[in-house]
Amino acid sequence: MVEKRTAIYTEEMLESMKKVEAARAANAEFEPRRMTAEEKETLLATYHPDYKQSEFRVLEIGVNKGEKVPTELAALLQANSRITADQVDLNKIDYDVDVLIIGGGGAGASAAIEAHKNGANVMIVTKLRIGDANTMMAEGGIQAADKPNDSPAIHYLDAFGGGHFAAKPELLKKLVCDAPEAIQWLNDLGVEFDKMPDGTMVTTHGGGTSRKRMHAAKDYSGAEIMRTLRDEVLNRQIPVVDFTSAVELILDENGKCAGAVLMNMETRELLVARAKTVILATGGAGRLHYQGFPTSNHYGATADGLVLGYRVGAKLLYADTLQYHPTGAAFPEQIYGALVTEKVRSLGAKLVNKNGEVFMHPLETRDVSAASIIRECTARDNGLATSDGLGLWLDTPMIELKGGEGTIEKRIPAMMRMFGKYGIDIRKEPILVYPTLHYQNGGLDIAADGMTGVENLYAAGEVVGGIHGRNRLMGNSLLDIIVFGRNAGQQASEKAKSTEVGALTLDHIAKFAAEAAEAGIATEVVSPKLLPVYDHGNKNVVKEAF
Ligand code: FUM
Repeated sequence: MVEKRTAIYTEEMLESMKKVEAARAANAEFEPRRMTAEEKETLLATYHPDYKQSEFRVLEIGVNKGEKVPTELAALLQANSRITADQVDLNKIDYDVDVLIIGGGGAGASAAIEAHKNGANVMIVTKLRIGDANTMMAEGGIQAADKPNDSPAIHYLDAFGGGHFAAKPELLKKLVCDAPEAIQWLNDLGVEFDKMPDGTMVTTHGGGTSRKRMHAAKDYSGAEIMRTLRDEVLNRQIPVVDFTSAVELILDENGKCAGAVLMNMETRELLVARAKTVILATGGAGRLHYQGFPTSNHYGATADGLVLGYRVGAKLLYADTLQYHPTGAAFPEQIYGALVTEKVRSLGAKLVNKNGEVFMHPLETRDVSAASIIRECTARDNGLATSDGLGLWLDTPMIELKGGEGTIEKRIPAMMRMFGKYGIDIRKEPILVYPTLHYQNGGLDIAADGMTGVENLYAAGEVVGGIHGRNRLMGNSLLDIIVFGRNAGQQASEKAKSTEVGALTLDHIAKFAAEAAEAGIATEVVSPKLLPVYDHGNKNVVKEAF
């Protein structure tokens, strides 16, 4: 098999592949030990990108003044608004709703369904189309402790430890306690979860889990969940305004959130949406390509919700912590940075260096796994050069050595197809991987009812910080968009029932600009970013799209 692949692989890769093949049977049997807590700490401090102080900047203005965030995010948080107040006629209301949901991914859709169920006049606005979101890209599965040998308490301990004991206890408790019901809700809506012939859900391990609680729809779990949620939104005839972005939140005279200024992405017309309550469900920030990393994220993941919330005074929590998924595709270049689901390792594939050596346990938590791969490729020089950087092997044929022929096609068909398009048969050949920017662990600080520090402004999904602490376990993100999306929809629609909106104002824009001027910040950058632009000479350089 190796000889046939000369067309796409380098000589060095082919030589290395031979070593991987020769060692495969022994490696499949080998049980690598887990790292000690001390080893992990040293590893993270030395190799994890979150610890690279030169890549962060201290905020000079706003509610998190004095705290550090990634340099790219600081530039957006302290940037100029896209509008001035006098460009917008706040007396001309284009949309008047009870609950305005900004973002059309899994959290936004879940929120809309629950708000609608609660009788609210709800509207989704999204800068692309409903479903164009990180939810759609999620692969491996969704955690819930619903098997007899498991419990929400055990789920809590796994996630709390995996997140470095930094999760907000009330949020994590809600996440794990509401998880079994979330699975049931999705199942009832029509999600085609993998099941045994008797109807029992198939569950697997993820990194850092002590029980098999990952429920999946093969390796396109997010797409299946998003398909179902989108159908439900459409069936309920919930209005969706697409290709329209929120460029500023609107407060009322009492300082409560009361809507948003929207921009039609084609005509750039500004529109006013007045709302009794607003839910930010704008997702993540992978398209900011922190530290030059490639990303597994959707095209629209540009931290818009953090910017919108920050400018009206909503606090951020743990905005300095990002998740680099250990296994982004490192080769071929057409899929550089694309997600190679952790499920590949759950099913038995191990990480192997260029010498054919297994150098770590395959299911350490994500931050530890990513740092370990970076160390192996850099300090230890045990990686291989690819056209875009470095990579080492994820030995996928091991899956069928242990699980039997047909396992890959049955359990991870999307992976097989993604690599198959480039002539790589992952049943027979290992694949090259390297960490890719995957998730923002931090985000807007919320209470258990989903409200931010700004009254009537709620947040749900990846835009929220604190649920997972400083590192998230696999499958807890699909879970949090459902649990906290539904929660935000229920709470915001209930709050809307007793909310009277006062006179609308955009005074916060000038106030924020004055604070920036006083701090001596002079910048050409405008935010929210909305969409990235790629310079074809350097695919990680992000310029202004709008
Ligand atoms: O590896 C994965 O399938 C990713 C899952 C997640 O981020 O939860």
